[in-house]
Amino acid sequence: TWTTGSIVEEQVAAIRAQVGSRRAICALSGGVDSAVAAALVNRAIGDQLTCVYVDHGLMRKGETEQVEKDFVAATGARLRLVDASERFLTALKGVSDPEQKRKIIGREFIRVFEQAQAELIAEAGAAGEDVAFLVQGTLYPDVVESGGGTGTANIKSHHNVGGLPEDIEFELVEPLRQLFKDEVRMVGQELGLPDEIVQRQPFPGPGLGIRIVGEVTRERLDLLREADAIVREELTAAGLDREIWQCPVVLLADVRSVGVQGDGRTYGHPVVLRPVTSEDAMTADWSRLPYDLLARISTRITNEVPDVNRVILDVTSKPPGTIEWE
Ligand code: XMP
Repeated sequence: TWTTGSIVEEQVAAIRAQVGSRRAICALSGGVDSAVAAALVNRAIGDQLTCVYVDHGLMRKGETEQVEKDFVAATGARLRLVDASERFLTALKGVSDPEQKRKIIGREFIRVFEQAQAELIAEAGAAGEDVAFLVQGTLYPDVVESGGGTGTANIKSHHNVGGLPEDIEFELVEPLRQLFKDEVRMVGQELGLPDEIVQRQPFPGPGLGIRIVGEVTRERLDLLREADAIVREELTAAGLDREIWQCPVVLLADVRSVGVQGDGRTYGHPVVLRPVTSEDAMTADWSRLPYDLLARISTRITNEVPDVNRVILDVTSKPPGTIEWE
């Protein structure tokens, strides 16, 4: 029968057969799929796997720690953390255009990952080992969408460590290829990953970088992180995590409005709440959150987050609005 335990056993055996005594690399994104794929491969080959996590500084509060501490504690996986936040912020300086932001973040991400990868390969090579595999969290719907192909990934290295070949060819390890999202979550649970990772809602790769309307700066990221943490905390406390697909919180950094707080006039920024209900993110409806919950969130954000003096609710469906603002 098709039990979660049997899926794990079967995949562990398949991964061992595929990788043998060689080594594998996995990029962790903080998302469910890469975490479960990595945990599965780690169960199979242990220290022959190295996970690489690029911290671009655009994650939400606590998310990097979830990977750094909770994921490692739950799996014992060998992790290489690359703190690249300074580099991303520098590259994003002065950029407000959403497409431009996405391009820059994507480009920097690949460069940083490839650099870490090249270093790992060089180190393994010095020890006489062969890094031949790249782990990917490809799911069944991704396989169907892309026509079912599998095989190798050809990674071009822009930042090669001296002496490495220009192109490194990896064989792919894709242990989730037969699974749907809910099955991936069950496998993750079976492998002992915490709920914060396994039940995580979707979050865009470019992170908070596309939830600041305007230029991305460290100060603005800090504000948004605080507001976002309050929203997530209150949604969880209200028991709405499963009902809501996701709830982006957006900082309108280029907009200011007048307010009054305590004895003084304020001139701060609004944040937008974008709670949506959806099946697959292709279409979405705005979530009818209880008024009391909205009131609590609004009070907390304006009290606890400096420089934010207004909370706005987005009541647009998709279409015509997208889920994210950028
Ligand atoms: P939109 O805004 O297009 O979002 O309605 C649909 C879903 O995709 C997520 N999203 C992204 N995910 N990289 C990602 O990995 C991206 O650049 C990106 N843009 C949007 C979004 O959070 C929603 O779940």
